[in-house]
This record gives sequence, structure tokens and C-alpha cells, in this order.
Amino acid sequence: MKTAPNKVYIETLGCQMNKSDSERILGLLENIGYKKTDNEKEAGLLIINTCTIRASAEDKAFSYLGVWGKRKRSNPDLTIAVCGCVAQQKKEAILKQAPFVDIVFGTQNIDELPELIEIFKRDQTNQCCIRSKPYDNVKKNILHVRDNNLTAWVNIIEGCDYFCTYCVVPYVRGRQRSRLTEDIIEEITQLAERGYKEITLLGQTVDSYGKDLPDAGISLPNLLEKLNKIEKLKRIRFVTSHPKDITDELIEKVSSLNKVCEYFHIPMQSGNTEILNKMRRDYTAEEYYKLVNNIRNKIKDVGITSDFIVAFPGETEEQFQDTIKAVDDLVFDQCNTAMYSPRRQTPAATWKTIQLSQNVKKERINILNSHVKKAALKANIKYIDTIQEILVESFKQKDNEIILTGRTRNNKLTHFKGLKDLVGEIVNVKIIDVSAWSLKGEMYN
Ligand code: SAH
Ligand code: SF4
Ligand code: F3S
Repeated sequence: MKTAPNKVYIETLGCQMNKSDSERILGLLENIGYKKTDNEKEAGLLIINTCTIRASAEDKAFSYLGVWGKRKRSNPDLTIAVCGCVAQQKKEAILKQAPFVDIVFGTQNIDELPELIEIFKRDQTNQCCIRSKPYDNVKKNILHVRDNNLTAWVNIIEGCDYFCTYCVVPYVRGRQRSRLTEDIIEEITQLAERGYKEITLLGQTVDSYGKDLPDAGISLPNLLEKLNKIEKLKRIRFVTSHPKDITDELIEKVSSLNKVCEYFHIPMQSGNTEILNKMRRDYTAEEYYKLVNNIRNKIKDVGITSDFIVAFPGETEEQFQDTIKAVDDLVFDQCNTAMYSPRRQTPAATWKTIQLSQNVKKERINILNSHVKKAALKANIKYIDTIQEILVESFKQKDNEIILTGRTRNNKLTHFKGLKDLVGEIVNVKIIDVSAWSLKGEMYN
């Protein structure tokens, strides 16, 4: 297949920040005449938006580059760009391992991409741009190119100030920078006008929103209250919450504001306080238990999901068992689990004598995953025979039936039979069956 110079393909690895950044990149490129394609073989411009949260994520980026490098040998007109968290931290390694890469740009230099492309085309020399910047409020006028026209991710805070000892995010995303409230409201009002029904506010620690701004009145609860007034908007979510920053006021707003969905993603990371201290998480296991119980007491049917890391340096069998106990006790709706992976620049990676073996890591993650699954099934079973409000997001034709898919307010994926015109509508569904991963229901009037 012949490549078209104005077609761009973007491969996005990693978290929602990267997904949102890729949508913005496509918006910037459409402004200068590029068209997005989902077929990488026809693209004249290939971009990879990378993640480095664990070694495996970084390996994936380099394996894509290997394939693209081969393709470039037979088609020297291809332009290859690398961005995201690996680009931010390892531009030298990228240019050394993949010398065919034309453009490398950092997590805070997305808006410079059109200019970098222009200079590259003019001079035919590699372009690199890794520079720190405050939250760039020029951003508000760019239309993101999104995958769908119903639900949207909206960044409200970038970077992170927590510096957990295992985590690379503060090094690759920079210090915490909140976006101005009026810019957020303007973007979301426009999205609602264009027909978007649900928005998810995005940040590594979304509940720290406003802490870095001079106006003490700016906070997530305050923002939610303002967004709740946007008439055409139906649902508001926010991820990810740091346990330390969930206040009673935030819980109260989630409970009382009708558009704010009853759902929290609150990574616990470990069920053992000593490990939490070593991780520099700033809370004890007991405090985390109390927080979850407090939220559940105040908000009926609230969904709570979490993240855990197994085999953190020095984690003993007993300490690991505390994580298992937390999953069993707290019956999370779902959890992401990961084996500890040492990351460059982070303190925990230098604790050489107490790194655990790959075997211990695998053993522990398998055990944890089976408990996570059991808890999720238990959490879902209680919804059988209840009526849930679903925003229908998509449909699939299966034999002669149309299966609709959407989410409950507490973020559970739900499948049921229905008409495809219901995509975009909010409907009531009676839950008739469940698995650990999703609910099955039927339309209820
Ligand atoms: N901001 C969120 C999480 C961001 S990273 C928070 O504060 O919890 C997403 C998840 O990746 C983390 O919750 C953690 O469970 C996992 N993670 C981060 N660094 C890791 C590492 N070095 N090894 C394994 N998992 C890691
Ligand atoms: Fe990483 Fe900790 Fe910041 Fe989350 S709070 S992004 S885990 S440093
Ligand atoms: Fe990965 Fe960067 Fe997100 S390291 S998890 S893409 S902030």
C-alpha cells in the first residue's frame, strides 16, 4: 500500500493521560492539514505515544519502533515521531536505539509538534523538544479528535507532587499543575453543546485539583458543583483519586450532585502499613479502610476500584497477606494489579539488596488476581434483580440480535438486548446475571 504524506497514525500506550494527549495531538495535526488513519500502512507520519510506568510498557514502545524502523528502510519518506513518557525520560536512548526516529517531543511539548514537523520538513534534521512548561492555557482552543461523540476525557490537572518511591510519573509528567476552572468549564460546555453526555475529569491525583493555584477556593468539590450546572451534560466522573485528598466535602458532593456518578478509583497499592510507608503513600492501611467505609456509609451503591503492587522491595509473605486481606475485606468492584518494576530515577529502584525475584512476583500476582476476581464477583452479585441507570455507549450485532453496551452510574460495564437507536440514551436496565467483569441485563420500563 502506498503511504500518503498527510495521513497520520498514532499508537497510544499507557494511561488515560496519554490517550487524552493523543486526541490533542490529532487535533493539532488536523489544523495543519493532516488526516487521522487507523491503518498504519497508509500513514506518512507515524507517532508513538509511549509509557514507562513499568519496564514492560517501555519494551513495547521499542518493539513498535523496531517494526517501524524496518518499514522506513524500504520507505525513506516515512516520518517517525516519538512522544510520551519514554520520550520525556530517554531521548538519547531512543535516538541511539532507533536512529531513524525523526522527531522526539516531551510530555509538556505537545503544542510544539506542528512547528517541529515544519522545521523537520524544511531542514531534514532530527528535531527534539523536551522542555518544562506551566499548564499551557493556550490549549483551550484546540479541538481534540476523539474516538466517539458521547463520552470524553478532560484533563484538569497535570503532573504529580507525591513522589511515591516506586513511581516514575513525577519525573516524566512534572510537578502538579492545575488548569484554570474557567477553561475547564468552557471546554466541557462546548462538549455538551456538541452532544457529549458524559465527561471524565482526568488527573494522576485528580482530587488534588487546585492545591497549586493561588485561589484557595479552587478545589475538585467546587469544580464539580459548577460543572453540575451545565444543562446538556448528563454525567460527570473523575479519576484517579489519591486517598489522602478525598475530603468529606468531596464525598458529600458525589452524594448530592445529581450528575456526579457514584464512583471512585482509589489506588491502595498495599494492605500493609509498613510497606505503605516505604512506598511513601502517606496513609496507613487502617486509614484507607476507614476511608472506604466512610464513603460506603454515605453513598449507596458506590463503586470503588483500586490498584495494587505486589513484591515491592522487601515485601515479606506476611505483608503480602495483608494485601490479600484488604482485597477480601474491602470487596473492591475491580482492581488493577502489577508486579513491582524498578524504574529509573525512583528511590525504590536503588534498594538493591531487597529486590524480590521474578518467581516471587509471578506467584504473588497470580494469588492476588484470583482474590481480586472473587471480590469483584461478590461485589457484582448484589446487583442481581436491581434496576440500574445505563448510558448506552455502543452496540454489537450478534447473529440476529443487537447487544447494547453501557455503564451503570457506578461504572459497571453492562450488556443487554435493545435497539441500536438507543446509543447515546440513558435507559433503565434490570440486572439478571453477572460475572466478575460485567453485568448482564434486560430493558426495564
Ligand atoms: N496516580 C495514581 C496511579 C498512577 S500509576 C495513584 O496515585 O495511585 C498507575 C498504577 O501503576 C499505580 O497505581 C501503581 O499501582 C502502578 N505502578 C506505578 N509504578 C509502578 C511500578 N514501578 N511498578 C509496578 N507498578 C507500578
Ligand atoms: Fe505516582 Fe504516587 Fe503520583 Fe500516583 S501519587 S502518580 S503513584 S507518584
Ligand atoms: Fe505511563 Fe506516563 Fe501514564 S508513564 S501510566 S503514560 S503518565
